[in-house]
This record gives sequence, structure tokens and C-alpha cells, in this order.
Amino acid sequence: MKTHSGSTVLTEMLGIRHPIIGGAMYPCSNPELVAAVSSAGGIGVLQPVSLVYVHGLDFRAGIRHIRGLTDGPIGMNVLTEKSSDRYLERMRQWLDIALEEGVRFFVSSLGNPRWIVDAVAPHGGLVFHDVTERRWADKAVDAGVHGLIAVNGRAGGHAGSRSPEALLDELRDIDLPIVCAGGVGDRAAYRGALDLGYVGVQIGTRLIATTECSESAGYKQAIIDAGEDDIVLTHKITGVPVSVIRTEMVEREGTEAGRFEHWLLTHPRIKHWVRAVYSIRSVVRLKRANRRGVVSHRDYLQAGKSVAGIEAVETVAKIIERWTAEASS
Ligand SMILES: Cc1cc2nc3c(=O)[nH]c(=O)nc-3n(C[C@H](O)[C@H](O)[C@H](O)COP(=O)(O)O)c2cc1C
Repeated sequence: MKTHSGSTVLTEMLGIRHPIIGGAMYPCSNPELVAAVSSAGGIGVLQPVSLVYVHGLDFRAGIRHIRGLTDGPIGMNVLTEKSSDRYLERMRQWLDIALEEGVRFFVSSLGNPRWIVDAVAPHGGLVFHDVTERRWADKAVDAGVHGLIAVNGRAGGHAGSRSPEALLDELRDIDLPIVCAGGVGDRAAYRGALDLGYVGVQIGTRLIATTECSESAGYKQAIIDAGEDDIVLTHKITGVPVSVIRTEMVEREGTEAGRFEHWLLTHPRIKHWVRAVYSIRSVVRLKRANRRGVVSHRDYLQAGKSVAGIEAVETVAKIIERWTAEASS
């Protein structure tokens, strides 16, 4: 699937130069970061909730803004978790607007992606679904997706549980392109993922420690300083495990939600509201940190085990150039 020029099924399907997807990140996907990945020859994926509620742009205007910053194609993250009807209705409207604005690549996560596949089909759009294990992959295949993003146990955000090798073995006989998400923070890991047989990578953590990312200098430095063993899973942000850097606060407060907190975060009727409140709270703290440039002891710093390979804040172009130059040597 991979040639020496670095082109793979993924680059051919998406019309991009390098098989690198700039993963959607709530709240870190600022427009400049998304555009920078696309300009560097990969494809940046916008996170709609980030775009509108964190970066304060009207959704259509936000897409136009990003497209004004790059000539490359961009993608959109569509989160399909069973949520309130209002949230799903909003996501459907955003998807329609993205299609009207020419977006043709969609990364879906959580829930059943069939409605997305149906919505994008008349426009020739492509849907890649995030999966952490075989049963979710089978559901996504039944829904008609065009590719899978295999989220392993090294990923930032909501990590999976398998190693990159084990997850690919589990999915290998599925006749769809499979992208590796998780643990790709340097060129060795990038090369390693392609050598294993993945058609490309989706990266998140590496992109936070870039010039274009609008997160605070303190957050970026914490990523540079952290080693693999400093990454822990906490249940305290959304009720489902999220990878964070083990800061003093995490150490002090632990990673398990208390009984009442767990009840609040998982109760079917109220969990969406509680998670929304938690997430707004963490965004408010991060925004405050961005203004100050430093992170406070109360901030959750999301990052995956790819921190191990991240040594400096660099531009997205420099990172992608280095990784792909190595790949073609
Ligand atoms: C801070 C942060 C926020 C994330 N938010 C989202 C999100 O909103 N939607 C999503 O599909 N994936 C999200 N992810 C996952 C990324 O898109 C990507 O799959 C993951 O970061 C890859 O692992 P890596 O961090 O080791 O590169 C997030 C990851 C991070 C680090």
C-alpha cells in the first residue's frame, strides 16, 4: 500500500501529499492549527464544538476562515455519541454546512456513523470512523464507512486499550484502509506505523506543541517535559477515561471519580449536562491559562504517550517535512 514517495491509499483517497491527519482536538483545534496541517501536505480536521464555543466563530464563517488560510483540503470531526436531540440536531446542521462549504472528509467518533455516511454520499464525501476494537469496527463497516482510524492505548483524548500492533492484527482482514491513531510523536513512530501496514497516521498531542497551536506556553512545555510514564488515564473529566499528564493536581486528586461524581457523570438522563459543565469548566481554565501563558495547578493537561518523542515547540510544516523526508530516504 505504501510507496517510497510516501503515498498510500490514504493520500490517494484524500488528494493530499502526506498520509497525516491532524486529529480533531477539543479544545485545542484552533483554526490556524487545522490550516497548518493542510498547508503542510496532510489534512487538518476541524472540531466543530471547539471552533464555535472555544474559538468563538460562527460555524460557516469558521470554515471559510480556515479555508482562507490554506489551499489544502480540510476535514470535520462529527461526534455521534447518543446525546441530547438538540446536540444531534446541531451536529447535523453543521455537517450540512460543511458539505455546502466543500468539506468532503469526515472523521466520526462514538455512536453509529450511518447517518453521516448517508448524508455525505450524494456529495462524494468520505467517512473514516474512530474505533478502539473489533466490535466497533464491524459496526462501522456495516454502516458503510470508507476507512477506519484505529485508536490505540497510546493515544491522547479518549484512548483505546490495545497496542498499535495488536489493534492492526485485530482489524487487518477488514477490507478498508486503516489509519493509526495514538503514540505518533516523532518520525520513528511515524515510520513505524507505516511499516506495520497502516495507510497513515492521525496525530493529536504532537500538534499541541507547535507554534500554530494557540494553547499556552505552559501546556506546550509540560508536553515537552513529560515522559511516557507521566501519562495517566483519568475518569474525572468526562466519566470515561481520558489521557492526561500526571500533574501535581492529578496526583493529589487521583484519577477515579468519587461515587457521587461517577453517578453524575454516567446517569443516562443527566450525564450530558454534567459532562458539558465539566468540559466548559476545563475550557474556561485553559483559556485563562492561555491568557497567562502558564498553566495553573488546577488545569487538566490532555496528552497521550507520544509526549515521549516530543522535544521542542516547532512549526507544523517543519515537523511534517522532517517526518516525510525521513520516510522517503
Ligand atoms: C487534547 C486532545 C483533545 C482531543 N479531542 C478530540 C475530539 O474532540 N474528537 C476526536 O475525535 N478526537 C479527539 N482527540 C483525539 C485526536 O483526534 C487523535 O486521535 C489522538 O490525539 C491521537 O493520539 P496522539 O495524541 O497520541 O497523537 C483529542 C486528543 C487530544 C490530545
